[in-house]
Amino acid sequence: MLHHKGTQWLGTERLRLCPLSPNYAEEMFSGWSGDSEVTKYLPWPTHDSVEVTRKILSDWSENYTSTKYYNWGIFLKENGKLIGTISFVNINDYKCTAEIGYVISRDYWNNGYASEAAKRLLDYAFNDIGFKTIIGYHHPKNISSGKVMQKIGMKREGWLPGTMLNNKGQRCDVIQYAAYADNFCLIK
Ligand SMILES: CC(C)(COP(=O)(O)OP(=O)(O)OC[C@H]1O[C@@H](n2cnc3c(N)ncnc32)[C@H](O)[C@@H]1OP(=O)(O)O)[C@@H](O)C(=O)NCCC(=O)NCCS
Repeated sequence: MLHHKGTQWLGTERLRLCPLSPNYAEEMFSGWSGDSEVTKYLPWPTHDSVEVTRKILSDWSENYTSTKYYNWGIFLKENGKLIGTISFVNINDYKCTAEIGYVISRDYWNNGYASEAAKRLLDYAFNDIGFKTIIGYHHPKNISSGKVMQKIGMKREGWLPGTMLNNKGQRCDVIQYAAYADNFCLIK
């Protein structure tokens, strides 16, 4: 059984993970939601304007009242800069499963930030909420996303042909990874 706690403030050595508000629209738009290179393999299209980002953030803000909503901004502790987001979606209470997703501003890629945040989220998912399985998917060409999942100990489960829609509405292949609570309960 899951003990939902929602988007609680979490920390890692270099990062602060916490809810976002519409005040971050400019940072998010200039950082990643308006950058077509960052959104290339994501299921949602690049935002045309900062107003699109502001509306999304406004919707997220309303969702934070739910303890079943898991969507964090990723901030650098050293300077308070917002560099990305990380979330659990497609939560299944019966199976105790969720899907992890993350995005980092291009200027901050390859510094280990996504891996650091994702590892903290696995800890939270398994040790605090009671999830049994966390799933992750990435486009076969999105090598760095697969690397993140490998680095945090998720296991590659297979190549799923044509199972997802890309942000142009076209079917695409994905590679599936999973982490199981039994193997992660002591990662703290
Ligand atoms: C995927 C993403 C979140 C990774 O963020 P990040 O903070 O750069 O990730 P990390 O630094 O923790 O790890 C990335 C790893 O991929 C490696 N990498 C990056 N490009 C690579 C490539 N072309 N080939 C091999 N390895 C690559 C990096 O070297 C790093 O591994 P290392 O630490 O062992 O050197 C970021 O690239 C991103 O936001 N991409 C766009 C959005 C996205 O695709 N999200 C995931 C959707 S499934």
